Amino acid sequence: MSAPLIDPFARAITYLRVSVTDRCDFRCVYCMSENMTFLPKKELLTLEELDRMCSSFVRLGVRKLRITGGEPLVRRGIMTFFDAMTRHLESGALEELTLTTNGSQLEKYAADLAAAGVRRVNVSLDTLDDDKFARVTRWGRLPQVMRGIDAAQAAGLRVKINAVALKGFNESELPALTEWCAARDMDLTWIEVMPMGDLGNEDRLGQYWSLREVRDRYAQHYTVSDLAERSGGPARYVRLEETGQKIGFITPLSHNFCESCNRVRLTCTGELYMCLGQEDMADLRAPLRASPDSDAPLEDAIRAAIGRKPKGHDFDYSRQRADGQMPRHMSHTGG
Ligand code: 5AD
Ligand code: SF4
Repeated sequence: MSAPLIDPFARAITYLRVSVTDRCDFRCVYCMSENMTFLPKKELLTLEELDRMCSSFVRLGVRKLRITGGEPLVRRGIMTFFDAMTRHLESGALEELTLTTNGSQLEKYAADLAAAGVRRVNVSLDTLDDDKFARVTRWGRLPQVMRGIDAAQAAGLRVKINAVALKGFNESELPALTEWCAARDMDLTWIEVMPMGDLGNEDRLGQYWSLREVRDRYAQHYTVSDLAERSGGPARYVRLEETGQKIGFITPLSHNFCESCNRVRLTCTGELYMCLGQEDMADLRAPLRASPDSDAPLEDAIRAAIGRKPKGHDFDYSRQRADGQMPRHMSHTGG
């Protein structure tokens, strides 16, 4: 293996998040607008190009791949890509291959994902109420996702639920969601809503609910102890003494995890974002396409990009753009 990727702040880059499509079969209010324009197909990395990209990162020391979107499982032929990544798990170069999904296609793909070597999936689910689910996702239907979660567990995949915390929307469901997860032996993580998508038009659904308040809400129902452990990512954890459950909190806008940041993000068009909260990116598609027979120029471009990974982001609600929106949609950078 070549020398590993180390950024200017001595952080080893071992975790790559890869968005394989900007499309989705849902239109969650905090993520997308009702009528989205998606990228033309030729802009997207092909499945073979995704393989070359990921394999180059693995060669440079990436140990964990998370596949995201949009909804990764709506990308046509996506299992070909997962199957191609299996060789890196088998060689030991890759420690973990995982994905973040809305669950809609899991009924169809759970067994294949498990066969490809996926052990865990994160399923995004904000409510257990059919009507509320239809409202927040606009196009989604809860029973389909429930069947997907059943299929994932039946296939032996560990499921983690990610719920976006929305005040006045899933606030009252906190105990129900928590107990449902406990009963099914699934971890639960709350994500603070970021100012993206269509929140301005859907503020009934999209009100900011700070995780500080979510934690206080837990303290009304349970005995809550803070856990020191970190996942190397933005999550903090508490334990509920009554259920023994570990509950995660992701505050994407807080700074406190930048110093341990080990990750970069690749978009479905081959742009590498070194930090979720910064504009700077590197086009990796150009060197990839310019050199069909050798990955050397691509690897040079990856090294150069990691060499400019910033120390941290300056996301801050008090320093938002005037229109209150992030310039990029989550479906573009892949969460
Ligand atoms: N704020 C917080 N989380 C978001 N996600 C999408 N848009 C937002 C947002 N504006 C989450 C989804 C899913 C993951 C892919 O990103 O709910 O958990
Ligand atoms: Fe699709 Fe996930 Fe965005 Fe919802 S949050 S629209 S499921 S990509």
